[in-house]
Amino acid sequence: MKRLLKGGHVVDPTQGIDGASDVLLDGDRVVAVGRDLAVDSGVEVIEIPDGLIVCPGFVDMHVHLRDPGQEHKETIASGTAAAAAGGFTAVACMPNTQPVNDSAAVTRSIVERAALLGVVRVYPIGAVSKGMKGESLSEIADLKGAGCVAVSDDGRPVASALLMRRALEYAGMFGIPVIDHCEEPTLKGEGVAHEGFVASMLGLRGIPAAAESIMVERDLALAEMTGTPVHLAHLSTRQSLRAMDAAKSRGLKATCEVTPHHFTLTDERLTGPTSYDTNLKMNPPLRERADVDAVLQGLRAGTVDVIATDHAPHQQDEKAVEFDRAPFGIIGLETAVPLALDRLVHRGVITFRRLVQLMSVNPSRILNLPGGSLRPGRLADVTIIAPSAAIVIDVTRSKSLSRNSPFDGWTLRGAVAATIVGGRTVFVNGEIAGLAALRAAGERG
Ligand code: DOR
Ligand code: ZN
Repeated sequence: MKRLLKGGHVVDPTQGIDGASDVLLDGDRVVAVGRDLAVDSGVEVIEIPDGLIVCPGFVDMHVHLRDPGQEHKETIASGTAAAAAGGFTAVACMPNTQPVNDSAAVTRSIVERAALLGVVRVYPIGAVSKGMKGESLSEIADLKGAGCVAVSDDGRPVASALLMRRALEYAGMFGIPVIDHCEEPTLKGEGVAHEGFVASMLGLRGIPAAAESIMVERDLALAEMTGTPVHLAHLSTRQSLRAMDAAKSRGLKATCEVTPHHFTLTDERLTGPTSYDTNLKMNPPLRERADVDAVLQGLRAGTVDVIATDHAPHQQDEKAVEFDRAPFGIIGLETAVPLALDRLVHRGVITFRRLVQLMSVNPSRILNLPGGSLRPGRLADVTIIAPSAAIVIDVTRSKSLSRNSPFDGWTLRGAVAATIVGGRTVFVNGEIAGLAALRAAGERG
């Protein structure tokens, strides 16, 4: 079945396209991109309304799907539905499930169930260490063979320098990156919020910025030694970004991501009307203004490679406790694109083209995924954006099973209009006009 997305503004940095263009899909592949493509018989034409932008599908490389084991928080079905509604055509899911994804058997079960139940593509990330215990390496070759696209002990740092060295050496042999959650555990201690003025004022135990940047420096030194690519998850401090910048200047194969909450919020939110709100508790914690400015500068200057959500669903009951006792993490799949458009693109921090790089091209490249480009022959994974649509975030309408977002009630400019995976429309935003044809195509399959 051929479908022509006609009349949109296409932004695809991999082909240098940023202008009016059509995109022709055939089954699950892109077959042509260009202006005024001829319409043969048998081609279904879908007009893209003016003002919408057609991009290669967005990829969220840092998602906690909680499946297997914590299906009260999220499942493969609910998490991938949230991903589709958030404009993502693929997600990579972290291994801190129950059981931990440290074996080919768990990986295969995720891959198989995602093929049946997943609304978008799911790429598992295997654990660096068995049980994520930080003691011995998991069988990285087996994990890769079963479908893992990276290894990480996310939720925790890779426990020791030696284990990180070995992980980089093995992962390097199998051509997959190691993703590290950078946090020096003794410095983090029992901390729950960024160590600084706000935490002191509120009487919360602090997590110093150095807890993150010390691990960043360790990992960069080991990446340099082994020559293997390392990817540093959710960087949040100016010291970390400075280290990353220096590493890139000396030619290291290191990449990093930041989250929407770390480029949008400071720890000041913990005071005032939202004081002690456990939906502001995440790891790494919200940092201070100078850190958020450094994150924005990293996004602007190219130090940051990826925007990833760290979508971390937790049930309402689990979050409805004292700040100290609440679990770390917030949901993020459905708010990432609106926050990125509102806070970054509309405020002139980055261009739309760079946004596509950060949310599609780069995560696909880092994980060696087949998406991230609308070149002919590539997957028909497409994200369509309504950059100027105003939206109000309403967590009660989230497709996630969890509600733990600090952005509930926010009005933002920029929305996802539709999401297409392998040529199939998997999400259409009911609030954007002119998408009836796309919706009908989705219903036909
Ligand atoms: O806030 C977080 N939540 N950070 C992590 O690293 C893990 C995650 C989770 O799994 O809940
Ligand atoms: Zn993490």
